[in-house]
Amino acid sequence: MTEYTALNRRLVDELSAAGVLPDRWRGAFLAAPRHLFVPGVVWDDADGGVLTARRRDEDPAAWLAAVYADEAIVTQVDDGATPDTGAGRRITSSISKPSIVAMMLDRLQVEAGMSVLEIGTGTGWNAALLAARLGEQNVTTIEVDAELAERARKALAEAGVSPAVVTGDGADGHAPGAPYDRVIATAAVQEVPYSWVAQTRLGGVILTPWGTAFDNGALVRLVVDEHGVAHGRFVDNTVAFMWLRAQRAPRPAPPADLAGAAESTTTLHPDAVAWDDLNASFAVGAGLPDVSRRFVDADDGGDDFTFWAFAGASWACVDVTDGASTHRVRQHGPRSLWTEIEAAYRWWEEKGRPVTGRFGLAVTRDRQYVYLDSPDDPVPSG
Ligand SMILES: C[S@@+](CC[C@H](N)C(=O)[O-])C[C@H]1O[C@@H](n2cnc3c(N)ncnc32)[C@H](O)[C@@H]1O
Repeated sequence: MTEYTALNRRLVDELSAAGVLPDRWRGAFLAAPRHLFVPGVVWDDADGGVLTARRRDEDPAAWLAAVYADEAIVTQVDDGATPDTGAGRRITSSISKPSIVAMMLDRLQVEAGMSVLEIGTGTGWNAALLAARLGEQNVTTIEVDAELAERARKALAEAGVSPAVVTGDGADGHAPGAPYDRVIATAAVQEVPYSWVAQTRLGGVILTPWGTAFDNGALVRLVVDEHGVAHGRFVDNTVAFMWLRAQRAPRPAPPADLAGAAESTTTLHPDAVAWDDLNASFAVGAGLPDVSRRFVDADDGGDDFTFWAFAGASWACVDVTDGASTHRVRQHGPRSLWTEIEAAYRWWEEKGRPVTGRFGLAVTRDRQYVYLDSPDDPVPSG
């Protein structure tokens, strides 16, 4: 047994023991060892939000330890524009955390002979796992970045499988291979492209990370019905994937000039709406999908901070002094964003603080909406 085989077996055993890797997926994980897919240059975000390159040839043991740990590894920054001597700003591709990969594959509920379309080839590892389970002829994967697609093709060939790797925009799906039994996205969407629904057979499943500008971390499992509508429940809220390229959430900066804002106070702590409880931030985001937010720590290194919300020309901020029960609010622009956030949070509280799994998503040709318990009960939007 080579060192790689032993390390892969240990990871697979750990995932099995943790209950995240069902026996039916063990063979695929053993057949597609992760080290074949992780590039020789990966990126660390240890340095205060800046990403720095780490090279396999500089420290092979550290590289290998990372490959066989249950952690995601950043494999591309800034769409490949930053050289590996530079400082990366945005994560644009990664090989996902093995336990998340196993959980998603399990939730996809594939059976022998099914055809699968994957959106977001990345390194090709997930496509290799699908091909090992279903046969390479049943797997098509799409990657928007031509360089990544080419690298994945080579890694897949080295691993002895050759599913179809398409270079293109996954938002369009891949009509020539349709209809698919399953569509799995490994990049997050704010709007599920209707092409995925149109290219999935009746009764087929679409599994995709889903989020809003406010909250990114949900996973939804949709089933396509006879009316060409896909609907289903959110099945997880702990998977923060990078966005599909065309659906990246904005990252607005606080304005330099706060003059002219309407001032008030609130007793609702921003942590309650956007930090303490994933179910709350999911629900607030579902009601206010275009509102992005940010926490900015006070300069003095203490526990005080400002919570910011942004949408179009509107912004709001809440200054939180550690230990205080009332906080200063400033709101500016056509929308009163903190007022909207409070209302969305109160709605969630009045509904009995429902967990994310009680929410669902419906995707029709013309629109998508989030509902609570039943498609007949859309979440009110702000
Ligand atoms: C988390 S990575 C995917 C991990 C991958 N499944 C693996 O096994 O390594 C997300 C990938 O989605 C790709 N992506 C982003 N937008 C896309 C789009 N519109 N179409 C296809 N791929 C896209 C990114 O370039 C990135 O490689």
